[in-house]
Amino acid sequence: MSTSAPEKVTNALLSVQDVHADVAGQPVLQGLSLDVREGEFVAVLGHNGAGKSTLLRALLGLTPTKSGSIHLRGEDITSASTPRIVDSGVALVPQQRGYFENLSVNDNLSFGERGSGRITRADVLEMFPILQTRGDQLVGTMSGGQRQMVAISIALMSSPDLLMLDEPSVGLQPNLVDTVMQVAQRLNAEYGMTVILVEQNIEKVLQVAKRVAVINRGRIMLDQPVEKVTADEIWRLL
Ligand SMILES: Nc1ncnc2c1ncn2[C@@H]1O[C@H](COP(=O)(O)OP(=O)(O)OP(=O)(O)O)[C@@H](O)[C@H]1O
Ligand SMILES: [Mg+2]
Repeated sequence: MSTSAPEKVTNALLSVQDVHADVAGQPVLQGLSLDVREGEFVAVLGHNGAGKSTLLRALLGLTPTKSGSIHLRGEDITSASTPRIVDSGVALVPQQRGYFENLSVNDNLSFGERGSGRITRADVLEMFPILQTRGDQLVGTMSGGQRQMVAISIALMSSPDLLMLDEPSVGLQPNLVDTVMQVAQRLNAEYGMTVILVEQNIEKVLQVAKRVAVINRGRIMLDQPVEKVTADEIWRLL
């Protein structure tokens, strides 16, 4: 009898199998399965409260799972600590306040610095030129858009292989939404980074992502390459 793992576990960078997780005693993830291969750009959509942030938090070890498994490069990280998962190359830009208001931009970036150093401070500042002259500024005194750039920069300073962005464009001006989307796309295309993007803006998602997954009632209801889905189909599932 063969003892090898199923192909989708060994080939996927990330493999989420039948995960259940509660938040505040209520079931949120209810048998969620999702595989993400190296170099993919997957958008995760779902209505408010569907469990998108809970999924990303569970992947980073911030929300405990009740059952199911999470593998990274074939290694079981279901119960791994957050620092270990970050050291394995996973970074999250959280939905809110992924930065330290009372620290300068430079100190925020230093906080995120770890890992291989494949992505340098210069790389990050080249992606967000507005931050180049703001090194000593306290992040709490910056605009919402600039703060979000700092939050993404902190995540990038760990040179992640898998970058997870939780609604990074919410509340931003349209031009900044485009900046954030372009940076995500560039990280995927030029740096080969695998990206999971949680977003509400379906039209934008269909422009930048390669694959779309829709969460409803704590499970994946649709999982397709972007060219095989329309915005209308997605709306119907939300
Ligand atoms: N701190 C909390 N206390 C109680 N319930 C919570 C808490 N955080 C989340 N929840 C609940 O858990 C469920 C899933 O929340 P989650 O944040 O994962 O949803 P989401 O899909 O990210 O939604 P949104 O689009 O609003 O960000 C929701 O029903 C939410 O009300
Ligand atoms: Mg959320």
